[in-house]
Amino acid sequence: MKERLEALKSDALAELAGVNDAQALGDIRVKYLGKKGALTEILRGMGALSAEERPVIGQVANDVRGAIEAVIEEKQEAFQRAETEKRLAKETIDVTLPGRRLPEGGLHPLTKVIQDLEDIFVGMGYQVAEGPEVEMDYYNFEALNLPKNHPARDMQDSFYITEDILMRTHTSPVQVRTMQAMQGESPVKVIVPGKVYRRDDDDATHSFQFHQVEGIVVGKNIRMSDLKGTLLQFVREMFGAHTEIRLRPSFFPFTEPSVEVDVTCIKCGGAGCRLCKQTGWIEILGAGMVHPNVLEMGGYDPKEYSGFAFGMGVERIAMLKYGVDDIRHFYNSDLSFLKQFARL
Ligand code: DAH
Repeated sequence: MKERLEALKSDALAELAGVNDAQALGDIRVKYLGKKGALTEILRGMGALSAEERPVIGQVANDVRGAIEAVIEEKQEAFQRAETEKRLAKETIDVTLPGRRLPEGGLHPLTKVIQDLEDIFVGMGYQVAEGPEVEMDYYNFEALNLPKNHPARDMQDSFYITEDILMRTHTSPVQVRTMQAMQGESPVKVIVPGKVYRRDDDDATHSFQFHQVEGIVVGKNIRMSDLKGTLLQFVREMFGAHTEIRLRPSFFPFTEPSVEVDVTCIKCGGAGCRLCKQTGWIEILGAGMVHPNVLEMGGYDPKEYSGFAFGMGVERIAMLKYGVDDIRHFYNSDLSFLKQFARL
């Protein structure tokens, strides 16, 4: 019987040696150690043994069971360890791998310039106002001292909807709208960004629709030097601290006196280049002291109040600031153009 037990042991160990998965391990356990297994089978014969033999064989049987179980346990642990390691390896995250990039949008350069302008003027205490793009002839022209048939209307060919309603040709109508809305309170101090429309043929520098930013300040003792200081501050923040300005006499019906404002050339700094046609100066906006008639139409007594106003083209500022040579680039929705501004 002892021999059979020893044989069982070596059979079991030999079989275990070749096992390499948990399922087979379980099968072997059942086969040798299970209730109906080989060991039980052999031990059934215990009854036939003598009283002296029984404990000896019992001991041998226990040793055999212990030896087989030890190997099974050891293997089981090894399998579990391997299993865990495999899972860990599969679940490992390589934190050094670059992430998947999300396509990143950006502001349109015109939006960016308008936001910059707003920041600069809000920093000087201005409020941002808006007005309608479909405008009355009255606000677009008449209230700005441009009566019907005034020759200066030719400067701004317009899209008319009816005889009295048109697409506004500039943001200046919001000057009078704002003054009227303020009902005589002062100071008036707003900038007005927005779209404007002109009956123009599109080319590198003209577009039938573009953007302006208007500014108007009305109060007591507002002087031309305030206008000049304001504009100097503005251009230095927009184009850089070394920028200078120059005012040239000009004419607008809604300002008197009127000026055109130049900045030192953005490209050559004033030395003279092709962009500034060798003059060192580049025109960027129109401005002046609010005409007494306009103050009056806005509800402010020109004997008591004075003011200045200015208006500029956003596309022009953007073209100068970013070196864009054709206004149509802003409207073509060409991503290779727009992406250059994505991180501004
Ligand atoms: N509205 C003028 C234009 O579109 C620009 C302008 C000039 C606006 C002088 C002003 C100003 O407020 O004072 O050409």
